[in-house]
Amino acid sequence: YSEEQEGVLQAYDWSAKLFHHVLKHTADGKAGLNYLKKRGFEPDTIEEFQLGYSPDRNEFLAAFLKGKGYELEQLADYGLVQSTNQGSYYDRFKDRVIFPIKNHQGKIIAFGGRAFKEHQEPKYLNSPESKLFHKGRVLYNFHLARKHFQKEKEVILFEGYMDVIKAYQAGVYNAVATLGTSLSETHAKTLKRYVKQAVICFDGDDAGRNASFKSANILRQAGLEVRVAHIPERQDPDEYIDRYGGEYFKQKVLQPAQTYIAFALEYYKKDYNLNLDHDRIAYIEKALDIIATSEYPVERDFHLKELEDTFHLNRETLMDEIEKRTSRIK
Ligand code: GTP
Ligand code: MN
Ligand code: MN
Ligand code: MN
Ligand code: MN
Repeated sequence: YSEEQEGVLQAYDWSAKLFHHVLKHTADGKAGLNYLKKRGFEPDTIEEFQLGYSPDRNEFLAAFLKGKGYELEQLADYGLVQSTNQGSYYDRFKDRVIFPIKNHQGKIIAFGGRAFKEHQEPKYLNSPESKLFHKGRVLYNFHLARKHFQKEKEVILFEGYMDVIKAYQAGVYNAVATLGTSLSETHAKTLKRYVKQAVICFDGDDAGRNASFKSANILRQAGLEVRVAHIPERQDPDEYIDRYGGEYFKQKVLQPAQTYIAFALEYYKKDYNLNLDHDRIAYIEKALDIIATSEYPVERDFHLKELEDTFHLNRETLMDEIEKRTSRIK
């Protein structure tokens, strides 16, 4: 880190400590603490993730940091405070619950602030990209999760940091999330250095399904083996865990996560009207493309058998088609 960056890291650390203190021990923080309790956060979780609250005041953090001798102009570049046109500075995360975002070494490089009152927009406000915070590189909770990758042999990928924290509380420690962006090639390559398998567990809506497919392809491209979990009834992992508990989440969601091939075969069905002959044929061609990407003969065989049965096809034709495709891939 440069000297400037060392200073900013220190300022983030002070700010996180201040917000954490405000949340736990002050009248200002009551509303934030109640919100977290209502959402099922336990005291230990609040500690582990250093959650905090930024008071509903214009110059609370700004005054604190100024008092510590920091140049607010510099800190504004890193999103700790916000500058006005008049050259003064005010609090960026006013009246929000604070989720410190740490880099892969465990140093705080940004905040996520969640609104919890009516008419407060946007729902989440994050620090802007800076020389320390690159959304395309950092994964939330990576520094804690990495210790569990080896034992668990896999990483769980969520959409939101709420999901990561709820899962942690339920005993799922090997989970990370992107920070409001889609998964990047850099994210995938980073994960690949530590772990061979990934389970994608995004929200149970169409957006989540589409993002699952995209992310799955990026992870596979980086050489990871991917499975995709399904959350029913448009819930998200955090809601599911609240409703059914951690054991159910592990048993009914994570454990039966579909293989990439099974997921992709399902996923593509939406693009075809399988009642029409020409669409059925086009889907079968697509399905063969997908099946051919499996490096496991048994897995290929398994899905070919399905195709054979579902569409009343000739096994030899299917085998020939796979042969054509795999020789092209190699
Ligand atoms: P809760 O509603 O608090 O349970 O959060 P969530 O994790 O369910 O949020 P959601 O599924 O809506 O979004 C997933 C992730 O996208 C969040 O963790 C954020 O990183 C990001 N995100 C969501 N809404 C916003 C927003 O309004 N602004 C920004 N910058 N990011 C957002
Ligand atoms: Mn503490
Ligand atoms: Mn969503
Ligand atoms: Mn969600
Ligand atoms: Mn949620």
